[in-house]
Amino acid sequence: MSWRLGVVGYPIEHSISPAIHQAALDRLGIDGRYERWSVAPGALAAWAAGLRAPDLLGANVTIPHKEALLPLLDALDPSARQVGAVNTVLKQDGRLVGANTDAAGFALALGDAGYAPASGEAVMLGAGGAARAVGHALLAAGVRRLAIFNRDAARGQALASALRQQAPQRGGQGARADDRSRPLIEAFALDAPDLDARLARCELLVNTTSVGMRPGERLLRPDQVPGGALVVDIIYRPAETPLLADARARGARTQNGLPMLVYQAAIAFERWTGRKPPLDVMFAAARQALA
Ligand code: ATR
Repeated sequence: MSWRLGVVGYPIEHSISPAIHQAALDRLGIDGRYERWSVAPGALAAWAAGLRAPDLLGANVTIPHKEALLPLLDALDPSARQVGAVNTVLKQDGRLVGANTDAAGFALALGDAGYAPASGEAVMLGAGGAARAVGHALLAAGVRRLAIFNRDAARGQALASALRQQAPQRGGQGARADDRSRPLIEAFALDAPDLDARLARCELLVNTTSVGMRPGERLLRPDQVPGGALVVDIIYRPAETPLLADARARGARTQNGLPMLVYQAAIAFERWTGRKPPLDVMFAAARQALA
């Protein structure tokens, strides 16, 4: 049988997932076609029903469907339950199972950048869907202090409390609420006075907002960008956002969103096919699609 896979979103024209996955399928000689599905929110339920076709091996899910798809699936695996969003649909014994590979993909990307949480603080800009996955990955990686800054302060607070519920608790089930082993997770408005001090002392800064996709767009003044930190922007187009250019100019180590994008794809690919993903081929396809 020839397999079908694909990515659903709205809009979806600019997704480079087809290039990344098709290159991997072709390299491994898997008879499969990875498609691009443009589905408006009102048509999502009908589209999800079509996933039950026997030749459909799996799907990726992107904006704006990552949360809306949850109730349309038969089950969620722990990765999707923890993050509260689905970016990958698996078929297991004919059942549609939602998974999330964004958090694990971000964790692998951080590893590539040589980041290992030390005693310092991580600062995350944004509190949307991408921030949920990144925040979860940071805590799973062992970050002990996380400061979230978001334009909408209430949304930042809501994410902080969701992450506190999920945060690994070394004390186990009986741990007390004031257990010191718990990470400290705080949230502030983007214009809060705490921003400068937190940036100055952080060891990791991650932008999860969409600010920086357009030329000259930045949330921070260049002089606020920490020169001694690792600065990660999950945007991959452009390859260097104004934030990353400022960080580089100030001597910071930087990483854009391409490694996270490729790793989340690779993890999904392995779950669908059971085959070791050809990472070099996937990275090359992503770079070529963006060139
Ligand atoms: P995604 O799934 O990509 O994370 P999202 O859930 O819409 O998308 O979240 C977008 C994030 O970018 C949010 O943190 C948003 O801030 P608000 O919660 O205050 O809306 C942030 N964002 C987008 N445009 C912004 C801007 N011009 N200034 C500051 N933050 C912005």
